[in-house]
Amino acid sequence: MTDPVRYDREGDVALITVANPPVNALGHAVRQGLVAAIERFEADDARIAVILGEGRLFIGGADISEFGKPPADPWLPDVVNRIEAATKPVVAAIHGAALGGGLEVALGCHYRVALPGTKLGLPEVTLGILPGAGGTQRTPRLTGLPKALEMITSGTPVDPKTAQEIGLIDRVGEGDARSAGLAYARDLLEQGAERRPVGAMPKPAADADAVAATEATLQKTAKGLVSPFHAMKAVVAASEMEIDAGLAEERRLFNELMETPQREGLIHAFFLERKVSQLPEIDGVAPRELSKVGVIGGGTMGAGIATAALLAGLTVTLIERDDEAAAKARGTIEKNLAGAVKRGKLAEAERDTILSDAFATSTDYSALSDADLAIEAVFESMEVKKEVFGQLDAVMKPGAVLATNTSYLDIDEIAGSTSRPADVIGLHFFSPAHVMKLLEVVVADKTANDVTATAFALAKKLRKIAVRAGVCDGFIGNRILSHYRGAADRMVLEGASPYQVDSALRDFGFAMGPYAVADLAGLDIGFMTRQRKEATRDPRDVVPTWADELYHMGRLGQKTGRGYYIYEGGARTGEPDPEVEALVAQAREAAGVTPRSFTDGEIQRRYMAAMVNEGARVVGEGIAQRPLDVDAVKLFGYGFPRYRGGPMKWADMTGLAGLLDDIRAWEKDDPYFWAPAPLLEQLVSDNTNFDSLNGWER
Ligand code: 3HC
Ligand code: NAI
Repeated sequence: MTDPVRYDREGDVALITVANPPVNALGHAVRQGLVAAIERFEADDARIAVILGEGRLFIGGADISEFGKPPADPWLPDVVNRIEAATKPVVAAIHGAALGGGLEVALGCHYRVALPGTKLGLPEVTLGILPGAGGTQRTPRLTGLPKALEMITSGTPVDPKTAQEIGLIDRVGEGDARSAGLAYARDLLEQGAERRPVGAMPKPAADADAVAATEATLQKTAKGLVSPFHAMKAVVAASEMEIDAGLAEERRLFNELMETPQREGLIHAFFLERKVSQLPEIDGVAPRELSKVGVIGGGTMGAGIATAALLAGLTVTLIERDDEAAAKARGTIEKNLAGAVKRGKLAEAERDTILSDAFATSTDYSALSDADLAIEAVFESMEVKKEVFGQLDAVMKPGAVLATNTSYLDIDEIAGSTSRPADVIGLHFFSPAHVMKLLEVVVADKTANDVTATAFALAKKLRKIAVRAGVCDGFIGNRILSHYRGAADRMVLEGASPYQVDSALRDFGFAMGPYAVADLAGLDIGFMTRQRKEATRDPRDVVPTWADELYHMGRLGQKTGRGYYIYEGGARTGEPDPEVEALVAQAREAAGVTPRSFTDGEIQRRYMAAMVNEGARVVGEGIAQRPLDVDAVKLFGYGFPRYRGGPMKWADMTGLAGLLDDIRAWEKDDPYFWAPAPLLEQLVSDNTNFDSLNGWER
């Protein structure tokens, strides 16, 4: 192993290089190396030191994988203090990114130069913590309280130009980090510049208005989260205390956050976001060519998928049934792209080029003869899909990938209807497809590994999170959804109101409850799903007859102004409706149920238990390869609160044994619905947890 911190000389200048790939995280060896390098710098005759990072960035922060383990000396705050206390000037030469502890190391230096394109930020709140190595005290000393509050409570990085304007850095450099650092160090020597410790600067002025404004923003943007509020307190402490007391207060608040389940959940989410695409079956497998895409069907999903592909720089040909449908699809895509222009994501000229050069519609499949990939998004009917795949099979070049966006249908059957099943895969996008982060990659029986690799490469291009799923009714996400929706419907039948269910689940952290979500998606979707399952439904299953009635009344949700809720004048948040409660009461009466009351806690626990139990089945059957894949699907496609890490992580934190006890107790009344998943029973009997199946190397 090479030295994680190197010490070199260039004339009068000492160069201290952090070399700890991939992101120069401040693990134990780096912390030791930095202290040793500062001691060496003090002992030799160099007049100034430059700290820089090797590779693509300066320093990506503390080593997150060490969190939760016993701390090892020297601690990062002490390392930063040691740099600041160096007897001769120290410069930070920053490129790529200085994040979290990385920026805090730079703030411990006496001068800072950053290259254009660098991200400078304190993203700790996104991990459920706060800057714990002096960032909350040193930043406001340089920038004043309002800017520091904004940066630290949002976690959003700034660019070097802004950083210079707000006083966070001194100079925007040129060339590479080494040359920019050396140039600045030599200028400083020439000017006779002395040490300039940020910690010795006067504390920032108090600013009650800025604090009140920050708090008001956080009430809206950080509902349910602890860390942004703690971070705010730590920054405010900088304006109230001298540096040592402020640093101690920062440490106290940091330690409190370290102990929270939110920190554990958010860090789980951070790592799973990266791990989810690491799969043995595509490790080292080259994806196929991917530049020309065909989309078949330009309705809700097809238009969204085409938009996402165009925004990622791909060429798209969209096939519709007739010219009218094709023109309608084009109109939707133009509207989507106009939205991207409005939000500053796309330049107007770029939009024009996309529409003239990269996008075409056709009613003739032969327009797809040179496409690398076709994504089918026509009606959810096996007959129609097979028809479309027959056409694709006939026109597409050998080696092209044939994908379906089906929500539920059997992809093995679709693949089997073609002459090239190895080239067929499911690409299950979520609506709106150009916005939602999740892409379920559904690998069928005969799908070739390089087709799976191509699907993951596509997700990367589209900046989506791809999760591998196997074939079953609903794959990972919709299959589990249908189960916990079942738990919610059972609770409604037993006496909970749909509005209480929604509100209890919002309190849990979901953006919306299941009935508000149903209104948003359209109650026709649930109705169609129930129809589809009618023939195979187990007689013990509970059917929400009130939902069928709402459908027959034409109450399809937001799009008709009424569903579970009433949406007056196009409102997006609905009001509860006594008429719906009356329908539910009738259904209870018809089923001979005497309603009982539920506490919010009971609602949350049952809903979550259903999600976890079905999640355990999905993993046990190999539909999801690891519990983290279930977590990823729920986090990025179903509005699961990120700070809880995902349902399987939530279950681990809550305790599997207690959860299984509850499931067994409910099983006595409803053995059909609440039969425990074999994997859950196995983990409890082995006294282990879901995370043990995730295969982390950290
Ligand atoms: N600690 C440990 N591992 C880290 C890490 C960190 N701070 N940052 C990234 N990694 C790992 C990733 O898990 C990934 O590992 P893998 O290859 O095994 O999956 C690898 O480094 C590469 O990461 P990315 O794929 O994310 O690389 P990118 O080049 O896309 O992005 C980055 C680089 C912008 C630095 C991004 O990794 C990132 O945002 N990292 C986290 C930054 C952060 O939150 N820092 C604050 C840490 S908390 C802190 O500093 C506390 C202090 O105040 C006391
Ligand atoms: P939609 O009804 O909005 O659009 C379907 C489009 O396909 C229509 O524009 C229709 O003209 C076109 N079409 C039908 N047959 C065709 C053919 N033979 N050739 C060319 N075009 C044809 O449907 P939606 O919602 O976009 O769904 C499409 C697929 O995506 C379905 O399989 C659905 O299950 C799936 N899906 C839907 C989601 C949603 O939220 N709506 C989410 C994820 C998947």
